[in-house]
Amino acid sequence: MIRTDEYGYEKIVAPLLLWYGENKRDLPWRHDPTPYRVWVSEIMLQQTRVEAAKEYYLRFLSALPTVQDLAACEEEKLLKLWEGLGYYSRVRNMQKAAKIVVEKYQGNFPQTEKELKNLPGIGDYTVGAIRSIAFHKRAPAVDGNVFRVLSRISANASDISEPAYRAFLKEKLQKVYPEEGVRCSDFTQALMELGATVCKPSSPDCALCPLQNLCKAKEEGAVEKYPVLPEKKAKRVEQVAVFFIRTPKGIAVRKREGGILKGMNELPSMIAGESAPQEMLLAMGVKEFEIERERKFTHIFTHIKWEMTCYYVSALTCPFPVYTAEQIREEISLPTAFKQCLEGEV
Ligand code: ADE
Ligand code: SF4
Repeated sequence: MIRTDEYGYEKIVAPLLLWYGENKRDLPWRHDPTPYRVWVSEIMLQQTRVEAAKEYYLRFLSALPTVQDLAACEEEKLLKLWEGLGYYSRVRNMQKAAKIVVEKYQGNFPQTEKELKNLPGIGDYTVGAIRSIAFHKRAPAVDGNVFRVLSRISANASDISEPAYRAFLKEKLQKVYPEEGVRCSDFTQALMELGATVCKPSSPDCALCPLQNLCKAKEEGAVEKYPVLPEKKAKRVEQVAVFFIRTPKGIAVRKREGGILKGMNELPSMIAGESAPQEMLLAMGVKEFEIERERKFTHIFTHIKWEMTCYYVSALTCPFPVYTAEQIREEISLPTAFKQCLEGEV
């Protein structure tokens, strides 16, 4: 069950807009916020922090400046632009959506909630961000930052993972959005900005906050009690054997056939059972090899933790495609889990 509240959300609009006007950061996606650029930045910002997103964003936009370029991009190049961001299905969905925008909408993003939501990979949050920031509509975009700010000002102890609480806050915000126009863009971003820079998860800077006199959590002296988060589920731990196989012609990289990271490149790897690494190599069809050394790594996904042992192997031949060190650096995309095994090697 969620708790509702009667907080007067309309009170926050004017002070937030004033504060945002004076304090907003100069971020690359805030220049010329076309729907395409807003969309790319918001998908990236769902996966990484603002500082890291800047570099990815600038590189992505210079490689693929328009939705037509994204629609036509070759998959390996696209994955390389996304390398390190994780959730590779998101960028694949972006390309599907780009193709639809090009083919069905002549390259112009649709403006209605319904049409946008029908595009692959575009959910409630992204719809709100595109509609408010690029189209200046009265459309809330409630991300983790915004939930934090709203649950604190209203001292609402509902669990923010509850869809009903999300819907409640979205509806409250919907009613207080400024008139259609550029202030809708500013209001959406002001809420995000306050959450990112002032109303931070721990030790918020309440003394700098434009809402400090309107904030019930602060009044209660209990800012860190909010937001109430769902209980964390323990991650499943998997032991994974990874093989860095160097042959005279190059380093082995293959496509993953299933499971997590399906369809992505990998250093040949398998869930480690009882078998010794020598047996696993033989089972994969690698002959005449020498295991030179091993290193341990871990990688944490959303629901799984990998405890990895990477074996560094030299072999005369191997049954997988091989690439030069330069190709691996410049052209081949490798998920972060595997990338760490390359350090000092390529
Ligand atoms: N986080 C998510 N979207 C953002 C944006 N547009 N500006 C700053 N931080 C964000
Ligand atoms: Fe967040 Fe503190 Fe501002 Fe309340 S007063 S909204 S807790 S920064």
